[in-house]
Formats: sequence, structure tokens, C-alpha cells
Amino acid sequence: MTLDGTDKHPKEKLIALELRGVCKTFRSDTGDRVKALNDVSLLVHRGEFVTIVGATGCGKTTLLNLIAGLDMADDGYLRLGEDLRFGDNIAHVFQHYTLFPWRTAVSNVSFGLQMRGLPRSERQTRAEELLTRVGLKGFENAYPHELSGGMRQRAAIAQALAIEPKLLLMDEPFGAVDDSTRTELQQMLTDLWQENQTTVIFVTHNVDEAIVLGSRVLVFSERPGKISCEFKICLPRPRNRITKEFTDLFIHVRKSLSGQLD
Ligand SMILES: Nc1ncnc2c1ncn2[C@@H]1O[C@H](COP(=O)(O)OP(=O)(O)O)[C@@H](O)[C@H]1O
Ligand SMILES: [Mg+2]
Repeated sequence: MTLDGTDKHPKEKLIALELRGVCKTFRSDTGDRVKALNDVSLLVHRGEFVTIVGATGCGKTTLLNLIAGLDMADDGYLRLGEDLRFGDNIAHVFQHYTLFPWRTAVSNVSFGLQMRGLPRSERQTRAEELLTRVGLKGFENAYPHELSGGMRQRAAIAQALAIEPKLLLMDEPFGAVDDSTRTELQQMLTDLWQENQTTVIFVTHNVDEAIVLGSRVLVFSERPGKISCEFKICLPRPRNRITKEFTDLFIHVRKSLSGQLD
């Protein structure tokens, strides 16, 4: 028994996610087996910003889908921290924009709050605040097709944040936006994470992005994906790319990604 009267060890409360020996194989339309993940083990603590970097096709999306409960592992053990539940306090931002095309920006952002039964005026206020926060003030009543790619992704992030998630899963969310928007969105996400201390798991194939954002960078091997290397990033935020520490880390992560690390 612990002091607070539960039988959970205090360390349990600090865990957001644990994976041990997780494997996933797909069967293609032609019947071939594609092993996407092989023996993935990972422990994520509350409040961490973990970035996972890996080549296209190495299993990053598969991993996030397993964590989000959208697919099942074939083997291994996966558990979320106590009180973390999909549809409640876990949000997922997908690689491709997933706004409802028939809803305005504000109505997309407030959707999760509507599902929770929040009164209209409350959810409207909260959604408008979030849209302002992500730089979409003035576009509250625009439909997704009236927004640029970067704007849609901002709205998708506001939508994910509306439910005040304790765990935020992000699948290459800035992959389809231009460089300057990407830098701006990275800064916005870092600020939001620092304010809310949400646990973030962010996958990308971009080494620079992984280092700019992560408190820990996990490097995925080529398919079947497996964590091959891990870097703790202690650089101060906001991160300055034009420093020797940053470029040294960049070279290290790059090399480990291509299996060239000594
Ligand atoms: N539903 C599926 N059916 C068959 N193969 C799949 C399926 N989903 C993913 N794959 C395969 O699994 C591998 C990993 O895919 P994915 O997780 O999407 O990689 P990443 O996100 O790193 O680019 C790829 O070879 C992909 O073709
Ligand atoms: Mg992917």
C-alpha cells in the first residue's frame, strides 16, 4: 500500500506509456507478409516530449496507431498510464488533415467539446481562444477548403488541444507545410507543451525537427522498425539551430539513422 491509500507504486503515476517487445506484421493484398514493427520497447514519462525519427516506411504510423488503439499488436505488451483513455484525454493529429469538411474551423475545434456535452457558448469561447492561439483569428467561420494546408494543420492542432489532452500523438503533422510555416508551428507547439506539460509523442522523418522539438529523440531502424538509438536533448529552448551543439547532435542522429554511427 502506498501513502495515498492506493496499491500503486508512486512511480506508476509518472508513466504515460509503456511498450515491451511490440511486434506488428501486415499481410498485403497479394498475401505477402510485411513486418512493420519488430520488438519495440519504450517507456515514456508524463510531461516528456518524445520525438521518433525514422525513414519513410519504417513503421512510425503503425506505432502511433497501436498506441492510439486504432490497430492491435501481434505480440508484446502495450499499456497506457492510468487514467489515459482514447476518446477522453488522448488526442491524435494525423499526417493528413482530418478536419470535417462540412464544419467551419470553429465548429471543427469545438467538436470534441460538443461530444462532452459542454454548453454551446462555453465551447464557442474555448474554440475561438484556441484558434487565436494557433494564429487563425479571423478564420473562425472558414471551411477547411477555404484554408491553406498550413492553416488546416493549425486548425487540426487546435482541435486536438481543445480536449486538453494528457497525451498528444502527432504523426508528421508538419510534413505538408512550407518551411517557414513549419518553423512557426514548431515554436507554437513547443510553447503550448511548455505551458501545459502534456506528454507528446511526435513522429517525423525530419532529423532537424526531431531535435528542435524533443526532450528525447528515438531513432527508428529501417523496416521492420525498432528503436536503434536514443538521444537525450538538453539544449535550451527555443532551440538555436546555428550552434555547434545543435549541428553536432544533428550529425550524430543523422548517422545513427543511416546506421553509420561508430
Ligand atoms: N494496413 C496495412 N496493410 C499492409 N501493409 C501496411 C499497412 N499499414 C502499413 N503497412 C506497411 O507497413 C510498413 C510501415 O508503414 P508505416 O507505419 O505507415 O510507415 P511510416 O509511417 O514510418 O512511413 C510499410 O511497409 C507499409 O507499407
Ligand atoms: Mg507515416
